[in-house]
Amino acid sequence: MISFGIIGTGWITASFIAGAHATSKWNLATVYSRSAESAKHFAAKYDQKINIHTEISSLATDPSISAVYIASPNSYHYKHAKEILEGGKHVILEKPATSNAKELDELFKIAKEKGVFLIEAYRHIHEVNFKILKGNLPRLGKIYGASLNYAQYSSRYDNALKGEVPNIFNLEYAGGALVDLGVYCIAAAVELFGEPRQSQYFPVMIPTGADGGGNLILTYDNFSVSINASKIWNSEVPSEVYGEKGTLVVPTITDIARVVYLDPKKKGEREELGKEKEKEHLNLKEEAAEYARVIEEMDLEAVKKYEKVSRGVIKVTEGCRRANGLLFPMEK
Ligand SMILES: *[C@@H]1O[C@H](CO)[C@@H](O)[C@H](O)[C@H]1NC(C)=O
Ligand SMILES: *[C@@H]1O[C@H](CO)[C@@H](O)[C@H](O)[C@H]1NC(C)=O
Repeated sequence: MISFGIIGTGWITASFIAGAHATSKWNLATVYSRSAESAKHFAAKYDQKINIHTEISSLATDPSISAVYIASPNSYHYKHAKEILEGGKHVILEKPATSNAKELDELFKIAKEKGVFLIEAYRHIHEVNFKILKGNLPRLGKIYGASLNYAQYSSRYDNALKGEVPNIFNLEYAGGALVDLGVYCIAAAVELFGEPRQSQYFPVMIPTGADGGGNLILTYDNFSVSINASKIWNSEVPSEVYGEKGTLVVPTITDIARVVYLDPKKKGEREELGKEKEKEHLNLKEEAAEYARVIEEMDLEAVKKYEKVSRGVIKVTEGCRRANGLLFPMEK
């Protein structure tokens, strides 16, 4: 059992706890919130003894836990993760881990010095059907390209249209569609094909000054990946990888329900490769199971692999943001 604490009391934290508890490998022991009231309110949902912290420093030094799941607002990730890592605890950090590569570098450095892990929570790459997609890539022979899509209208955009500036669409709070949602597609590309040679982003700008969505082209040695991601429109366009010996199609890039292989020699035939996906309310269970395994076995190789994905993603998002003038406060 890994006793853990949480920072951030939103729905995503509740989802992580549900997934974590379903693995029987994790035990929620402490809850942090700046307000004792909301910490108590959140903890009351669980039928177990839970400590309350209202200071990050006391959470970081709480001897009853060995890991902390962090899902505070994006612009606090770095500060919170730093303090928890310095306290010698493993950190599972919601995406996007940090605003830029320098901060990420620093966090990985602290984790190594303290002998603990920093893992950015890209849940989708641990899903059963994502792994099936990846495992079948060799079947395609030479890769010709891929199209990865994730567009989901955010109700916060309604507020933005009324003249408000929700954090998620606010560059002052390290927001924007690329870093908030595009990263799912970028992480998928990096996990499937490695770090791209180049990247170019064509954002759709919104009145808050942030990108609401856009088209991103990742260039690899002999092919390119086109990503369309958005928080201001919906899309049902599937994602696919195509090569000389066929095409692999998934309806979505997270919560993948099916994996279909299309053989160019067998027109009209569809080979279903996918397995039953995790239930919606436990869609963070697969990552929680993997992180527990990694921590229990102190699996350095796996952690190195995940570190590479995080570094590959931040390189793309930071480069694309800078090229488009989508600057966060510390970059101005
Ligand atoms: C890319 O294509 C060139 C020319 O066909 C080939 O020599 C090279 O090995 C390929 N690189 C990769 C990484 O597949
Ligand atoms: C992605 O965006 C580009 C640029 O807007 C567009 O031309 C392309 O059709 C889009 N692709 C998909 C699959 O939606």
